[in-house]
Amino acid sequence: MSPDNDHILVTCGLPYVNGPCHLGHLRTYVPADMYVRGLRKMGKSILFVCGSDSHGTPIVVNAEAQGITPKALVTKYHRHFDDVFKSTGVEFDYFGDTDNPSNHERTQEIVRALMEGGYIYPLEIELAYCPACERFLPDRYVEGICPYCAKPARGDECDQGCGRHLEPGEIREAMCKICGGKADYRKQIHYFFRLSVFKDFLLSYLATLGGTSSARNYSLEWVKQELKDWCITRNMSWGVQFPGQNGLVVYVWVDAPIGYISFTEEWCAQNNIDWRVYWKDKARIIHFIGGDIVYHHCIFWPAMLKGANYSLPNDVVASGMLKIDDKKFSKSRGYVIWVKDDYLDKGLHPDLLRYYLASYTSHTKEVNFAWNLFADKVNSELVGAFGNFLNRALTFATRNFDGRIPQGNIDPEVNEKIEATLEEVILSLQEYEFKRAVDSVMTLADYGNTYFQAYEPWKLIKNNKQMAGSVLRSCLQIAKALVILMNPVMPTKMEEAWKQLGMEGTARDASFKDVLLPVLEGQQLGKPEILFSRMEEATVKDLDKIFQNRIKQAEAREKGLKVDSTELIPLISSSDLISE
Ligand code: 2FM
Ligand code: ZN
Repeated sequence: MSPDNDHILVTCGLPYVNGPCHLGHLRTYVPADMYVRGLRKMGKSILFVCGSDSHGTPIVVNAEAQGITPKALVTKYHRHFDDVFKSTGVEFDYFGDTDNPSNHERTQEIVRALMEGGYIYPLEIELAYCPACERFLPDRYVEGICPYCAKPARGDECDQGCGRHLEPGEIREAMCKICGGKADYRKQIHYFFRLSVFKDFLLSYLATLGGTSSARNYSLEWVKQELKDWCITRNMSWGVQFPGQNGLVVYVWVDAPIGYISFTEEWCAQNNIDWRVYWKDKARIIHFIGGDIVYHHCIFWPAMLKGANYSLPNDVVASGMLKIDDKKFSKSRGYVIWVKDDYLDKGLHPDLLRYYLASYTSHTKEVNFAWNLFADKVNSELVGAFGNFLNRALTFATRNFDGRIPQGNIDPEVNEKIEATLEEVILSLQEYEFKRAVDSVMTLADYGNTYFQAYEPWKLIKNNKQMAGSVLRSCLQIAKALVILMNPVMPTKMEEAWKQLGMEGTARDASFKDVLLPVLEGQQLGKPEILFSRMEEATVKDLDKIFQNRIKQAEAREKGLKVDSTELIPLISSSDLISE
């Protein structure tokens, strides 16, 4: 069934609401938001949803360590993420929570459907059990030795060795994470998802999966090797109860992606739309995720959807990782930049960060963040090229043409350049090549500067005002195109620029094809103002100092201090799973 391009659902991997938002998160969310804004400018109707991933053992362990309930912890960070997204212009239509009743209901419905289809079966397994705490030890409650590589590992993942996902009961020499005591192994019935029977389905599904080739190719390789059934129950009370089994909840990786469905349902209920259009019909479903959760989204998730008779994702767009100062991102080692504390609260404009993340490298590659690189990009590209051109064109027209768009013909070469840029931006966005889209806009800004410089309107104005008018009107046409095309990347700044150009309406509402609508002769311009300011060296030094101190503190902690259970806090986000 070919997807219906009138109904497009875009989702972003759900952040674990277990700690603050960091740059690693925005590595995925900013390009996704840019994509949605861009597609809307192409006239597409898109629903953009995300929400908090509120379950799983790290949240419970962390809440216990802080002496609060899991609900209190996730509520706090749910608000935090919602605020940070709003402040950075990542504008979801709906930001839900996997602990919402609708997600509990949808998860149970899907689990029941899978059971009826024979895709879930009970099995007695031996699980780590702490005799002192008198409890089974799921996932992060237990540490021990990896059965595959013999390195120290956590209950759900060999984090210091081979990196494998570990199934319940697999870890050897289990130690309880709560009391530090030795655990033993006890038998218990758990429920397994028959992933192995989906092999042929996955091979054909993945062959045509859209999105980034990285996601498709990695998952195809995994499927060709071995597909193990997944244990989908855990001994906990925090989570979605496994139907009919008190004391067992479903594994967080079952109810988390189901959040994509329940958030759609919640938004649809508020907007009087049938959610089935998205999840039972032929809408186009696009998942933006971090590169570390490809397995879950390309293998486990489509198999679940297929088994329960839901629509399948059409595209999985996996982003590359984020490095800080060329080092692996790591909260425990201090290689982290907190979006609120380190960036927004320092008075830095969110659009600069959006620009950096979207334009640093292609979506599947690693972004390196360092304050000096950030300042260089702002100063040379945004201040020196983009802002400079807009300001030159606007100031010149204001001073010499009475603050109005001059009369004159728009140079056909200028229109051609704009049209070519438009095509390149559209194609790049459709191919998830965000850097290429931004680069082509910046090439148009460079062309604008060269054009202005080459025609020397400051000379023309003295002896050929008509020609100067044409040059300036052409420059303002370029300026308008730049603002529309850059709007998905820097929505707030481009709105300011739109006002300076004296345009009607908003840059947000302008469609991509408006770049070719001629700017109107005689139209009043707004007041030219500096759009981007230089980042001074002293500011960069101050920002970097905060970061360097964090690394020093982390080193000191590593050398001197005992690691306590709050150490689990830094180890929970998706970005961490790959980088720690
Ligand atoms: O890895 C993570 O950060 C998970 N919280 C992502 C969940 S995405 C989806 F499947 F819900
Ligand atoms: Zn291992």
